Amino acid sequence: MRKKIVAGNWKMNMDLADGLKFAETINDYFISKPTRTGVILCTPFIHLAGVSEILKNGKVSPGAQNCASEPSGAYTGEISAQMIKSTGARYVIIGHSERRTYYHEDDKLLNKKTLLAISTGLEVIFCCGEVLKERESGNHFEVVKKQLDDGLFTVPSEEFKKITIAYEPVWAIGTGLTATPDQAQEMHKYIRGLVRDKYGTEIADDLTILYGGSCKPSNASEIFSKPDVDGGLIGGASLKKEDFCAIVEAV
Ligand code: PGA
Repeated sequence: MRKKIVAGNWKMNMDLADGLKFAETINDYFISKPTRTGVILCTPFIHLAGVSEILKNGKVSPGAQNCASEPSGAYTGEISAQMIKSTGARYVIIGHSERRTYYHEDDKLLNKKTLLAISTGLEVIFCCGEVLKERESGNHFEVVKKQLDDGLFTVPSEEFKKITIAYEPVWAIGTGLTATPDQAQEMHKYIRGLVRDKYGTEIADDLTILYGGSCKPSNASEIFSKPDVDGGLIGGASLKKEDFCAIVEAV
């Protein structure tokens, strides 16, 4: 059975004190109500060491939202995979559409980051997804295939267990629009098929594929009930305890 995961992506929200307090609330909640779903909090870099310390005595895992493409050196303002790892964080999101769009991160750069993160011992949540125009013109499968071919599929098979894929249709992120459960299932099945063609059945069957894009308590169970949807990457709703915990429980 592959692992079910719900990862919160805080994005650029909450100051340090609020973030630490919130991490504590989530940690306490899942200590009192344990779940078999893997719960991850992807926080801003500033919060990461403190959050990792808080999550040490619990079952929730810390993660970052990005990492540098170089291992170390004169890269002012960057944060390396090794630095992230040294905070106690276990995961890093790579290829989020906001990084692709606002910071012009392309597949080649994302591939470099992914390989570096993995060789550093981090697990990668690799994001892919099409914009509205690409879906409307029927190119969404092609777009996602290219993102995976160029950004992810150079990861060697023996390391692929460190990968989680998040399918996030860009038109659904933070917009209140959600892919229908059938649209999500269709794309997740397609992605698993691509992984099967490249890495074989065992790796494809073990791969956790998350859905992201305006996931909330009211739509989570229906989306998560689809056979190829193994949980979610949650933005806005991960900032509210009730919503985030309800989404975890919907898996
Ligand atoms: P959203 O964001 O849940 O606010 O749509 C999802 C994401 O960007 O990971």
